[in-house]
Amino acid sequence: MSIKKVSADAPGTTSEPGVESEPVTASEPGSASAGGPLVDVRDVSVVFRKKRTLAAARQVRAVNDVTFHIDQGETFGLVGESGSGKSTTGRALLKLVPTVSGSIRVAGHDVTSLRGSALRKARRSMQMVFQDPYSSLDPSSTVAASIAEPLVVHEKLSAKAARSRVHELIEMVGLRASYADRYPYEFSGGQRQRLAIARAIALNPRFVVCDEAVSALDVSTQNQVINLLERLRSEFKLTYLFIAHDLAIVRHISHRVGVMYLGRIVETGPAERVYGAPAHPYTQALLSAIPDPRRESERIVLEGDLPDPAKPPVGCPFQTRCRFVMDVCRQRMPEHTAVEGGGEVACHLQTSGPTLAGSPLHDLAPTRVAAAP
Ligand SMILES: Nc1ncnc2c1ncn2[C@@H]1O[C@H](COP(=O)(O)OP(=O)(O)O)[C@@H](O)[C@H]1O
Ligand code: SF4
Ligand SMILES: [Mg+2]
Repeated sequence: MSIKKVSADAPGTTSEPGVESEPVTASEPGSASAGGPLVDVRDVSVVFRKKRTLAAARQVRAVNDVTFHIDQGETFGLVGESGSGKSTTGRALLKLVPTVSGSIRVAGHDVTSLRGSALRKARRSMQMVFQDPYSSLDPSSTVAASIAEPLVVHEKLSAKAARSRVHELIEMVGLRASYADRYPYEFSGGQRQRLAIARAIALNPRFVVCDEAVSALDVSTQNQVINLLERLRSEFKLTYLFIAHDLAIVRHISHRVGVMYLGRIVETGPAERVYGAPAHPYTQALLSAIPDPRRESERIVLEGDLPDPAKPPVGCPFQTRCRFVMDVCRQRMPEHTAVEGGGEVACHLQTSGPTLAGSPLHDLAPTRVAAAP
């Protein structure tokens, strides 16, 4: 890796002085995704068994028949409300939770069948950055010790070589090498996320799952950290799964987007198409909540919560909250069908909706009248 210094900031500050707030931009998907799929996920399901005190254990299908791919060098944004199965999907890709069916290939590895030393070796090329940087930075160790750990364990670097590499990595994420001997609490939230990213890229991974990695930061710090991720992606040809419950965050970093609801992916497509012309009523409702002075469309209020994932409804998972619900939605699961402009949607409006007939979703009359406020 070549070192590219960017402006450094002082520890302990809440904003990130010296790191200019630039507009967030992902480079062209075409140039990013020239190498074909690096991540190929087919029909994957993850089931958790939850023990209850007075009743039998119940099963939660946290991820249900999920299929998607991520091209080499591409950023795939995964969005959806809390509890929709995003983190479990990300963890399944790194074999941090077991799958009950389906296949996962990441960077040439058949992840579902990996065990023992082969799994440990494969994990070097797959890393994760979490919302809570303390998941990867030990609060009782210096940041140098946390970042050096994978280098010492996996690459068997000497203490001196590891220290020099730690300094390189800290500079790569826009901080001063001299901060290496400080403790995580001495840094701001944005700086701690930069250090967590430094640890994640220490072993030159090919694929990084960013799980709500910027969700806890203020908007300007979010932009700075996203710009850092984008710079590292293009410099080191990284491929990202970028998970966030907030669609606004995902928009500018993602080449393609997947929308999850109750363990299923209900829509995928190029970010431009999904944000410009959402094909699923759930995507449309989520987008309507993002303030946009250029858009006059009404805010669609999603009533109620996600249904209990242990007892999903028969038919479309979104039927209990959908403004366009039809009889067929309560009888059959909608299949994934191609959308004009790219990607797929799982919604009966796309195939058997009586009103669709090529109309954009926002032109349709809801079948269900919204409850009075
Ligand atoms: N370790 C676990 N044990 C039992 N249930 C879990 C576990 N992790 C997640 N779940 C359940 O799986 C569903 C999906 O959770 P999660 O993947 O964390 O969603 P998201 O990241 O979209 O908020 C939720 O119903 C959650 O309660
Ligand atoms: S299949 Fe039916 S209930 Fe589901 S999102 Fe489409 S219109 Fe709504
Ligand atoms: Mg999550």
